[in-house]
Amino acid sequence: MIGVFDSGFGGLTVHRALMEALPERDFVYLGDNRNAPYGVRPPIEVLNLTCAALERLFGDGCTLVVVACNTASVVALRWIQQQWLPVRRREDGVARNVIGIAVPTIEAATEAGTGLSRVIGVFATRRTVESGVYPLEIRKRRPEITVVQQACPDLAGSIERGAPRSHLRELVERDVMEMMANAGEAPESVILACTHYPLVADLFAAALPAGVRMVNQPEAVAGALKGYLGRHPEYDASNGGRRRFLSTGFSAGAMPLVERFWGGKLPFVEV
Ligand code: DGL
Repeated sequence: MIGVFDSGFGGLTVHRALMEALPERDFVYLGDNRNAPYGVRPPIEVLNLTCAALERLFGDGCTLVVVACNTASVVALRWIQQQWLPVRRREDGVARNVIGIAVPTIEAATEAGTGLSRVIGVFATRRTVESGVYPLEIRKRRPEITVVQQACPDLAGSIERGAPRSHLRELVERDVMEMMANAGEAPESVILACTHYPLVADLFAAALPAGVRMVNQPEAVAGALKGYLGRHPEYDASNGGRRRFLSTGFSAGAMPLVERFWGGKLPFVEV
């Protein structure tokens, strides 16, 4: 069974692409709604919360977990993979792995086949921007690329609260203008490096100059997961097409939020 973890329901934008790419696999989604948003939390809290979620998903029988949250991926994943996971594997005697969503997105953005950009813009939560992981990993692969980051501190929260489109448009326009002013030139590609932003991708496209390429994070992650499982069948052999949806803070009142990210109701269970 494959676990998919996010700070809340935003990761459903990624989860949908994973389920479409791998319909035969068993998936369990866990949203840590009780502790969302992660994008404003100190790194140590993001790390502890991510470890707690992984414990839960491993305890539920997952052998592979996709951290479908940019903030958790860039803040916590390296330490988890290097320090935490080896101990967990030794104790359990089971092949387990945890993968994130930043690297597959960066790989998609820096692939030569897609028409390389000289300037890449990254829109993300404050914590993701502060981690510096996107620019670092892009430059590792393509040192010639200039990366301009823009924190969008109010955007994920406003999407969650169901703010009117006019308000979301204002926020997106302000963030795009700020990035352009800092960059001095328009990016040729942008990465929407937050699970919530696909819901306002059209507003970004409208605010950015015409022709800016937008990297599709859910698609990039789904392609990467499929390739990964092909190379590493030891991490998951499920084929029942089963789905479970768990949340640490679900109540009936949260269903409109689920519908916003998924386009329909899902049978979430509170854990
Ligand atoms: N899922 C988070 C991310 O992709 C966005 C929301 C939050 O701040 O928790 O960064």
